[in-house]
Amino acid sequence: MDFIYEKLVRPVFFRQDPETVHHLAVKGLQCLGAIAPLRAAMEKFNLVRDEKPTEAFGVKFPNKIGLAAGFDKDALVWRAMPALGFGHVEIGTVTCHDQAGNPKPRIFRYPKDEAIVNFCGFPNDGAETIAERLSKSRAQKTKKVPLGINIGKSKITPIEDAAQDYIFSYNKLADFADYFTVNVSCPNLPELRKLQSKGDLERLMSALKDADAERAEKFGKAKVPFLVKIAPDLTFREIDDVIETVENLGLGGIVATNTTTSRPEKSAYETRGGLSGSPIFDKSREVVAYICKNTKKPVIAVGGISDTERAAKMFDAGACLVQIYSSFIFKGPFFAKELAKSLYWRSGAKWL
Ligand SMILES: Cc1cc2nc3c(=O)[nH]c(=O)nc-3n(C[C@H](O)[C@H](O)[C@H](O)COP(=O)(O)O)c2cc1C
Repeated sequence: MDFIYEKLVRPVFFRQDPETVHHLAVKGLQCLGAIAPLRAAMEKFNLVRDEKPTEAFGVKFPNKIGLAAGFDKDALVWRAMPALGFGHVEIGTVTCHDQAGNPKPRIFRYPKDEAIVNFCGFPNDGAETIAERLSKSRAQKTKKVPLGINIGKSKITPIEDAAQDYIFSYNKLADFADYFTVNVSCPNLPELRKLQSKGDLERLMSALKDADAERAEKFGKAKVPFLVKIAPDLTFREIDDVIETVENLGLGGIVATNTTTSRPEKSAYETRGGLSGSPIFDKSREVVAYICKNTKKPVIAVGGISDTERAAKMFDAGACLVQIYSSFIFKGPFFAKELAKSLYWRSGAKWL
C-alpha cells in the first residue's frame, strides 16, 4: 500500500496545486465516510487498539496516534479517519465567523525535506455551520475515537474581544467535543500569538472555563477539557507561564507544537507562514520535553513525527499522545495505522 502511494499516487498528486489535491482527498474521504459498511470494515482492519487504551484528561483513546488540526477544518471527513487508523481526530481550527483565509497560493510543499509551509489563516465555514453539520451526522453517536475541536479567533474580531469569539465557538460546539484545543499559536492570523502571553492567556482560559461551568450548571452537561496549543517559538520562560496557567486553572493539558515561523539556515522555504514537517521535529521535541519535565499535565506532541523512532522519542520525552499532519501527506493514508501498529509491537516487546 505504501509502495503504491509513494510510487504511483504521490507523484501524480504532487504535480497538482496542494489545495486542489486536498479538496480531492476530502471528496474521497467524504465518500468513505458516507459508506457505513465499508467504513466499519476498514475500521475493524485498520484501527489498531492498544492493549490498554490511553486515558488522558478524562478521555479514553484506543491508540496514541491522532490527526492534527488543519486537515479537517470544516468537519467534513473526521468520521472516515478511524478507518485509516487514527485513534483520535482534531477538527478545525474553527472560528466564530466563517472566513475565507489568506489569498492563495498559501500552502507550499517541499517533498525532499518532507516539509510544508502554510499561510492559510483559518479558512473555515464558521462555528454555527460546523455545529449544524456535526449535529446532522449520525456518526456522532457511534463514533469509535475521540473528537477534539480546535478553536481560534476570527480575523475580523479585534484581539481585545478574542474571548467572546472563542466563547461563541465553544457554545456552538461543546455538545460534540470530547475535548477542545484552544489555538493561540497560529502564525497566520495577525496578533493571535499574543494570546499566549501570561495575562492574556489567563483571561482567555478563565473566560472559557466560566462558560464551561455555566453550561454544566444550566444544562446539567459534563464539563469539557481544554488544552492549549502553543508555538515551538516560545522561550522557556514563556512556556513556564503557559504551564502555570494550565495548572492554576486546572486545564486539561497542552498540545505542543504548532508550526514555526523560523526557518533552517539557507533554506529556500517560503518566508511567510508557518513551517511544519520533518525539519521542526527537534524543536517540537525540545518543547515537549521541557513541558513534561516541568508539569504532570498531559501533553499531546505534534511536529515532524515522520517515523516510529520519532514518535517513540516524543513518548520518551513524556508525551501521552501524538498527532501527525505532514507525514500523513508525505507517507500516505495508512501511515497512522503503521505508526500505531509499530508502537504497539514496540511496547509489547518491552513488556514481554
Ligand atoms: C496546511 C496546514 C494547515 C494547518 N492548519 C492548522 C489549523 O487550522 N489549526 C492548527 O491548530 N494547526 C494547524 N496546522 C498545524 C498542524 O496541526 C501541526 O501542529 C503542525 O503542522 C506540525 O505537525 P506536523 O509536522 O506533523 O505537520 C496546519 C498545518 C498545515 C501543514
